[in-house]
Amino acid sequence: MAIVLCVLASARSEGYTATLLDRVIEGIKSIKGVDVEFVNIFDYLPISPCISCWNCARNDDHRCTLDDSMGRMGEGELVNKVLNANGLFIAQPVYFTRPPASVQLFFERFYPFMWSGELNGLPFASLSQAANNGGTRMADWEMSKWAFTRSFKYIGGLPVHMVQYDEACVKARDLGKKLAEAALEDAEERFTVTAFDKYMGTDGNPWDCLDGYVDDLTNGTRSYKGSLVEHALSHGTVKKEEAVNLLRNAAEELKLMLQYYEVGDRVKAKEHLIKMRTYWSPATIKEFLDDDLNQ
Ligand SMILES: Cc1cc2nc3c(=O)[nH]c(=O)nc-3n(C[C@H](O)[C@H](O)[C@H](O)COP(=O)(O)O)c2cc1C
Repeated sequence: MAIVLCVLASARSEGYTATLLDRVIEGIKSIKGVDVEFVNIFDYLPISPCISCWNCARNDDHRCTLDDSMGRMGEGELVNKVLNANGLFIAQPVYFTRPPASVQLFFERFYPFMWSGELNGLPFASLSQAANNGGTRMADWEMSKWAFTRSFKYIGGLPVHMVQYDEACVKARDLGKKLAEAALEDAEERFTVTAFDKYMGTDGNPWDCLDGYVDDLTNGTRSYKGSLVEHALSHGTVKKEEAVNLLRNAAEELKLMLQYYEVGDRVKAKEHLIKMRTYWSPATIKEFLDDDLNQ
């Protein structure tokens, strides 16, 4: 039996978000062999923000030591449900064009799984519902970014404004079915997410990693000159020898990534983005985080 954890991130348990989640749950339950575990996230608050103690990075089983439902060394009630799930669905209202604070708190506390990798490949889908002046697509974009940064298997997102409610009910049901099918596969064996899958997998998603990282890594310049790597090397703001050597390799990959990006070869550009980050991330850890991690 596969289990899909459906998280309602609205305090209004019979509000618009909840009624749309009901349609998703109908879709999930229509697939034989899949069960639903429903939670209202408000029943599990307060969830503490991550306090950057690095305990999860240091302890061998990569568990969170905070004393709340997302912690207790993996025994917190909510995190336990996440660990047991074969699929995760978040239904959220849109607040100020974004996911609500409860969702941010929830996902922020997935940092232990970045170290353990055990939720990599978890099938994930969401819906983002708004009733006023909108922002559903912007909130959906954020969910797709969570899927990327958490290495989930992204099944889809449904941005809904209440003017589209009727057709959204049908789409919600279909999205539930799709997630349930992926959960069944997960129950057999979790999908192994390679770096290639992860980066190429954002093609066509609301948030595509290439455009985001080109902007971010170049500090908005879209060229090597002015990029974070170039800045670090030319200003000597990274000092440790090992980190500097890693940065030099990152610089070469960044230049190649930008060359391919400029001519529109997104596959090659992403290949070099992947390589670039295999140098950039360890370089920044070595320079700025190693001391905290090894305390
Ligand atoms: C703090 C807050 C911020 C909101 N921001 C937006 C917004 O940016 N865009 C929008 O269309 N609606 C916004 N709304 C309205 C909600 O999206 C709307 O009330 C939604 O239907 C709530 O879902 P619910 O019935 O599940 O509570 C906001 C509501 C609250 C309480």
